[in-house]
Amino acid sequence: MPLFSSTIPYLKISLNGDIRSYFKNLVLANGECENGNTSNALMTKILLDYDIQRYNFHDWARNVLGTKELENAHCSRNIKNLNRSPTVNQLAESFSDISEKYHSLISDFLSEIYGEISTYQSPPSFRFHYIGLGCSIFHSDRDFGVEQGRMNVWVPLTDVWGSNSLWIESEEGAGDYAPVSMHLGQALIFDGVNIGHGSKINTTSASRISFDFRFEPGPGPATPTSY
Ligand SMILES: [Fe+2]
Repeated sequence: MPLFSSTIPYLKISLNGDIRSYFKNLVLANGECENGNTSNALMTKILLDYDIQRYNFHDWARNVLGTKELENAHCSRNIKNLNRSPTVNQLAESFSDISEKYHSLISDFLSEIYGEISTYQSPPSFRFHYIGLGCSIFHSDRDFGVEQGRMNVWVPLTDVWGSNSLWIESEEGAGDYAPVSMHLGQALIFDGVNIGHGSKINTTSASRISFDFRFEPGPGPATPTSY
């Protein structure tokens, strides 16, 4: 049974209203910001709500994969055979169908939160976390040479909880890994370069499909790169 209460103190923002002022208020309310300086707060975890009708990644994925329920992806031998790699899969092959929505998600949200975006990964990495299998090892992205200053965005296309989700530590080096509980329509922004994260064998009743990407706040214009 999904539990939609996170064990990690996320900031939560939405596209409604003035994002920047709302975000700043939340940061101040959480006591993570002094003298109006949000730089440290911007490196913490942010849970973002988005409109799944406007950014229809979920429906697009269902159409591409030919399944009504992404959570049941493990039931289809065809889906499992064709989708084993983050970069070589049916969603990556069909990315051009949804790329405009993807780019607008970045400009609508990330640019509002972070000011200017220098670069961002395009296409994103698509991941299939089937029941009974793992998805990624535990690591920090710096272990693989990712430069400081880049941030990660994780967008599950299914509800996620427990062992079908991403496990992440509360802060750099804490080692207290806990699963992120999120609804479809939410995205997580976090400092994956420094904060440890990974996945476990999926022992829930639902497969997880997600995409993720990195971006770098900084002087624009936002330029898509392969990362
Ligand atoms: Fe990573």
